[in-house]
Amino acid sequence: MSLSQPHGGKLINLYDPNYDVSELKVELEIDTIALSDLELIGNGAYSPLTGFLSQKDYEAVVESMRLATGEVWSIPITLPISKEQSDTIELQDTVKLVHEGEVYGVLTVEDIYIPDKNKEAVSVYRTDDLAHPGVKKMFDRGNIYIGGPIKLLKKVEKTDFSSFYLDPAETREIFAEKGWKTVVGFQTRNPVHRAHEYIQKSALEIVDGLFLNPLVGETKADDIPADVRMESYQVLLKSYYPKDRVFLAVFPAAMRYAGPREAIFHAMVRKNYGCTHFIVGRDHAGVGSYYGTYDAQRIFDQFTQEELGINLLFFEHSFYCKKCENMASTKTCPHGKEHHEILSGTKVRELLRNGEIPPSTFSRKEVVEVLIKGLQKQEIHS
Ligand code: ADX
Repeated sequence: MSLSQPHGGKLINLYDPNYDVSELKVELEIDTIALSDLELIGNGAYSPLTGFLSQKDYEAVVESMRLATGEVWSIPITLPISKEQSDTIELQDTVKLVHEGEVYGVLTVEDIYIPDKNKEAVSVYRTDDLAHPGVKKMFDRGNIYIGGPIKLLKKVEKTDFSSFYLDPAETREIFAEKGWKTVVGFQTRNPVHRAHEYIQKSALEIVDGLFLNPLVGETKADDIPADVRMESYQVLLKSYYPKDRVFLAVFPAAMRYAGPREAIFHAMVRKNYGCTHFIVGRDHAGVGSYYGTYDAQRIFDQFTQEELGINLLFFEHSFYCKKCENMASTKTCPHGKEHHEILSGTKVRELLRNGEIPPSTFSRKEVVEVLIKGLQKQEIHS
């Protein structure tokens, strides 16, 4: 088997640092989510997208989890703007996309439309509850969307952990150099706890390499900050993973907390980075209790293996069993619940914030040390 084909068959590359903007008059200020989406469209992580969604694609994605051309696509990648901003642009204009005074890209306006945000909320997030952080964010952003093809002119300057930012073309090359024919992608917005490690290593027993690909774009305020997490991944890999079988790089997208729909999106993106397999465990990309434990696995049943183009590895909720003296799940452990230590990122965060040290059955001690140090620093600064 060779590395996964990019989604849609071709890796998109819209990076054009020499693009001449001197004749362009209109500037649109974009937020950090749009900035990260711009970069990920431009570097091909969102292949086959070549721009922010037009109305036709947007409606197809919201209604049927497909682009108008039929490819699987589950999260609307939109460019929301305000009424004041829309008054400055006309169809067919090429506009500069600006963030904090820097031009990062251009977009040719093919479409200006008013989305039905209630429908988007209920279809994509399965709720219109504003207590859901993804729904709240969506409603907070502009009420007019513009669509059209982009060019990426400048990549965001990376100050922290800059060597872990790689484009899909680069990760594909690295996997090929390593001689990996099968690579499993792992999405996370948390430090890697024992349950994560267990499912990653279970997968590693059957594939050549693990692509640890933490999301480091915008997350909700109580998630562990990306710089602390990055340090925790590095100490963990150093002590507990074979060096030549794991590769760490970041996924700079914003977290949507859209559960099942986001699981599909995460899988398609990892396919673009060159993964042949992708892990979906319990409540993938979920938040609160909006989604059922395995909804993010079941949703894949709506598509054929051929159109997904990546092998899904589904894992049951795993835990530490005191009787087995091992990580396990109900698929592998015969003992009753009273013997199980159920852990979650939320629970570990709670313990740490209360000054308690999570047991080594939750998290490796090296990881806990980094998290405690990181959270203390955060408290000093807040
Ligand atoms: S998220 O990015 O999916 O929101 P998280 O870090 O919580 O982040 O989970 C990363 C991956 O590990 C997801 O596929 C999730 O389903 C899986 N996962 C997390 N905890 C467990 C667990 N205890 N058992 C099985 N899978 C888990």
